[in-house]
Amino acid sequence: MIYIPITSARSGMVLAKSISAPNGMFALLQSGEELTDPIIEKLAAHRIDGIYVEMYGSDDIEPKSIIPPEKKLKLTAEIRDIYSKYYTQPYISRSAVESTRRIAETIVDCVLDREEYLMNMMEIKGYDSYTYSHCLNVSVLSIMLASEMGINRNKLDDIALCALMHDIGKVDIPIEIIGKNGPVTESEFAVIKTHPEKGVERLRKCHNVSREVLYGIQSHHEKIDGSGYPYGYKGVHIPIFGRILAVADVYDALTSHRSYRKAWLPNEAIEYIVAGSDSHFDQEIVQLFMHLVCAYPEGCIVRLSEGSSALVVKNYSENVLRPKVRLIEDSTLGHRGMEIDLLEDYDASNLTIKSILSGGDDSASIDSIVNQPANKHL
Ligand SMILES: [Fe+2]
Repeated sequence: MIYIPITSARSGMVLAKSISAPNGMFALLQSGEELTDPIIEKLAAHRIDGIYVEMYGSDDIEPKSIIPPEKKLKLTAEIRDIYSKYYTQPYISRSAVESTRRIAETIVDCVLDREEYLMNMMEIKGYDSYTYSHCLNVSVLSIMLASEMGINRNKLDDIALCALMHDIGKVDIPIEIIGKNGPVTESEFAVIKTHPEKGVERLRKCHNVSREVLYGIQSHHEKIDGSGYPYGYKGVHIPIFGRILAVADVYDALTSHRSYRKAWLPNEAIEYIVAGSDSHFDQEIVQLFMHLVCAYPEGCIVRLSEGSSALVVKNYSENVLRPKVRLIEDSTLGHRGMEIDLLEDYDASNLTIKSILSGGDDSASIDSIVNQPANKHL
């Protein structure tokens, strides 16, 4: 399968990965379904940026998810139910925390059982279900980071719980501010900056929430150089859960479609995190992060530095910037279908990936690649 921007989708293509509905409750479209013009229009209306479709010669490419799609659908719906309780009750009950903890434990089980190591943020995300899928993704990435740091199982459950509730204080921020389309004013931002404290306030009376979870929620917007909020803590004075959450939270937010901007591509968001290493983010955590996420997810089409287009077929945790690729056009590098291992092939040491083709200016190139005759197989 290959990943294409929605603008390159054509009637007759076959969907290779299911897409969940905006409310996260059911599958909007099942894999195997043939696309029609009305379906493509519906996906675009739901602001789905891209989809996985079947393409002759790419059957062996199957990006795996850390959380299987059906489980993800179920977990997102459960998080949504929990959040609806948070919204309607003035305080968070012990039973609501217990329900959230059960979801957290399930996510930890999935992460610890995973076969695939890298996290692919090019997974299709429903724009409207942002809050719930964001909580889930932040939780998955936080658990992966914490697990790499050797943190024990009990604490992994705690960080998962912390990630699921990190923005709980936003429940108490007026909707006109938190739901505003576009930039906020200085005074509105001052109100938004109270959400870590408001979250802790809501949970403080729950005796079944550990201090580490409260500290994590309180400090997820602190920055290593002291320029964050609410307290401007620096370096190791920022609790470890807060430092982990900061990386996971920003990475998922950047790679998600928001009302005021398109989702960043995974490689762009990784670059942002790396650039913020030691100013915004903890350097050691960024180093671990660099081995856990796909910069160029399997199935996406990339432009190589030499100019030709290629399909990403395999990622390596040793170096997420140098996957194995397959040429999708004849070029000076070789014939269509030839594979180049950017990590292992000595001859490819000067070759780099320039960009992910993602629509916009690249639309014509992508169209010519994905809409070529089926017999021109890879
Ligand atoms: Fe936050």
